[in-house]
Amino acid sequence: MFQTSALLLLLASLGASASPVDLSARETTKEFVSPPGLNLTYSSPFNSALPNVVIMATGGTIAGAANSATSSGVYSAGSIGVEALIDAVPDLLNISNIYGYQIANVGSPSINSTIQLQIAQAANAILCAPDSTTEGVVVTHGTDTLEETAFFLDLTVNCGKPVVVVGAMRPATAYSADGPANLLQAVTAAASPLSKDRGALITMNDRVGSAWYTQKTHVNYLDTFKAPEPGYIGGFFNNRLFYYNTPATPVFKKTFDVSNITALPRVDIIYGHQEFDARLMEAALELGDVKGLVLASPNGGVGAEAIIARVAEQVPVVRHVRINVGMIAPSAEAPTANNVTISSGLVNNQKSRIQLQLALATGADPRETFEEPLRSILYA
Ligand code: SIN
Repeated sequence: MFQTSALLLLLASLGASASPVDLSARETTKEFVSPPGLNLTYSSPFNSALPNVVIMATGGTIAGAANSATSSGVYSAGSIGVEALIDAVPDLLNISNIYGYQIANVGSPSINSTIQLQIAQAANAILCAPDSTTEGVVVTHGTDTLEETAFFLDLTVNCGKPVVVVGAMRPATAYSADGPANLLQAVTAAASPLSKDRGALITMNDRVGSAWYTQKTHVNYLDTFKAPEPGYIGGFFNNRLFYYNTPATPVFKKTFDVSNITALPRVDIIYGHQEFDARLMEAALELGDVKGLVLASPNGGVGAEAIIARVAEQVPVVRHVRINVGMIAPSAEAPTANNVTISSGLVNNQKSRIQLQLALATGADPRETFEEPLRSILYA
């Protein structure tokens, strides 16, 4: 309630109102059937004229709190529960019936594949069942790894209904906290038929991006989420959602069915640099449980290629570059003795890790998953 009470006091002193929601006309809370393993922690009074949106909260700065309103960079992420997040934005209830789940309340570096699988399976159950009455799912998340979970959901929840991932760059207690507006826009997008068939979305700072392309590009500033080459797909004007084009799917996108997957294999990212010692990759394999590697790299150092080739005989090695933007094109024919690693295509390092995990977990061929869509276009 941090933001709400301060905002309401301010508006009252100005003789204005904060779009009060008249709940008297609503039916009592409608029972919502929780997917297995989830506990409903928030449910708004039900209005059959409004769409149903489920919010799954995982923590991050959007749920962060600091000791002072001037503290926008030093705070505890994941301090505020889903109920307080929703209470801070009364207008959510003017546009939707809200059901809230507290999936986790952690900084996003602590989000793991167990949590991602839980969200994906719950979202599929909530949105994609034949008798589903839910229009969209919103996931609140820390921004540091938000693009990874958003990409994961883009590849694993695919029945056309919107999944919107949202965070904030300033904690809930800060002056000009961006969380409440971001949450309102995320719910607006999740509830809108305009968002259908666009894959998972990231809405932040008045913009809408495809989760397949969007990534965090700045550590501190509000306009951090960008899709460097293709750009945003939509935005908000006066909180009205618009899209630039009719729905489209990223050309190289692969999807995965995780309904029966209980765990994902471990894939690590190794970071290349001048004087890079490729024996780090062998050291990673010695950990024992590594089933694949992503190499964020210039083209190795002296002697590196021989080591990389040895490692690639044991586990799939996907190669991108450190810049994280651009295409690592596959060779025309795969694989040759000089081409033992897998080209990541347009998928950046952290997203390549997710895609390789999903390919390995579902029995998909990693090279085909990454290279085939591109090869068929580049060398047709
Ligand atoms: C986090 O990723 O959990 C902290 C940073 C943020 O949410 O902006």
